[in-house]
Amino acid sequence: MREMKKLFVTGGAGFIGSAFVRLALEEIPDCQIINFDALTYAGNLDNLEGLDERRHRFVRGDICDDDAVLAALEEGADAVVNFAAESHVDRSIHSAGDFIRTNVLGTQVLLDAARERKVRRFVQVSTDEVMGSLPERDDAFFTEESPFEPNSPYSASKAAAEHLCRAARHTHGLDTVVTRCGNNYGPRQFPEKFLPLMLSNAMCDEPVPVYGDGRNVRDWIHVEDHCRAILAVMRRGRAGETYNVGARNERRNVEVAESVLNALGKPPSLIKFVKDRPGHDRRYAINPAKIERELGWRPLETWESGLEKTIRWYKENAEWVARARNGAYREYYAKQYGTT
Ligand code: NAD
Ligand code: DAU
Repeated sequence: MREMKKLFVTGGAGFIGSAFVRLALEEIPDCQIINFDALTYAGNLDNLEGLDERRHRFVRGDICDDDAVLAALEEGADAVVNFAAESHVDRSIHSAGDFIRTNVLGTQVLLDAARERKVRRFVQVSTDEVMGSLPERDDAFFTEESPFEPNSPYSASKAAAEHLCRAARHTHGLDTVVTRCGNNYGPRQFPEKFLPLMLSNAMCDEPVPVYGDGRNVRDWIHVEDHCRAILAVMRRGRAGETYNVGARNERRNVEVAESVLNALGKPPSLIKFVKDRPGHDRRYAINPAKIERELGWRPLETWESGLEKTIRWYKENAEWVARARNGAYREYYAKQYGTT
């Protein structure tokens, strides 16, 4: 396939989108990127600091606004890569409206615009959560054939977005590909998510809230490995296919909390078991054999190397963390955790 040189990236001021933009600029030396992002509470222009402005242009806009999307895509693109989403499960439990709007309606607006602007390929960044929860057996894994069983409003909205991609391909012949990844960790992750929440709390000697019995399992991957997988799928994935992305790195939440506290030199007594998340999925575990076999993708980071780099980034970027934990975050934290 001809190299993808003009990219239209949505949600590129967020955690994974900004890592993807950095990686694409490095890996495709002559690519040009339009980064289209509404800058919700999770979007942060600090995440784009230092990028080459001749090759990266930021446009503030909402993916649900078809005029704004069409205008930003006026010159077409080789690929649309859709990261823009409401991404936090707990927020979707408080209120699902924004999730349906951005994740479902916004995806359809982008699919329509991609067709109108004759975009070659549409990459939908999805999640393992569309496949629901696995039993606690070590021979049960998500594959690309696993049924859709989304359990939270967030995962239901992401499943709906995948269906819309499938329909755009089947009905209109749009070239769509989907990636489904597990839990990302790394620099610039908004501190509402488990790992940066633990890190930022523990660094201030505040309690680390662990839901329920802490034995829920997540399959962790460094954000740059996820982004390398998305690049591979964008460039070489087969049209219409879905690729699961995972680093074979299952961990119980309480073990993750212990590792983080240990790496920071903080006592395990900071762990505080709190009320469980309603409908909390028990286990995610991804079989990544398809992307390994077809595209030769492999994670480059181990859990140990990735965690060490991540912790170093949070320690060295205390101002970024302090800004993220300000204002609206405080309100959200009080609503979610009360006084932990
Ligand atoms: P994030 O919440 O950090 O970033 C989301 C970005 O989307 C923000 O910059 C935000 O401003 C932007 N955005 C939100 N609504 C928008 C709208 N209406 N129009 C334009 N921009 C909008 O999310 P993330 O963790 O970086 O996740 C990115 C994508 O990857 C999401 O689609 C998510 O479902 C998917 N994903 C995330 C993970 C994970 O572990 N974080 C794992 C698998 C898949
Ligand atoms: O699996 C991929 C998904 O991973 C992505 O699609 C989502 O966008 C991303 O947010 C993430 O979803 P999770 O719900 O798994 O991530 P979160 O960081 O919210 O929680 C990870 C685990 O830690 C989960 O079992 C819930 C638990 N948890 C979370 C928080 C915020 C706690 O025990 N305490 C907490 O305070």
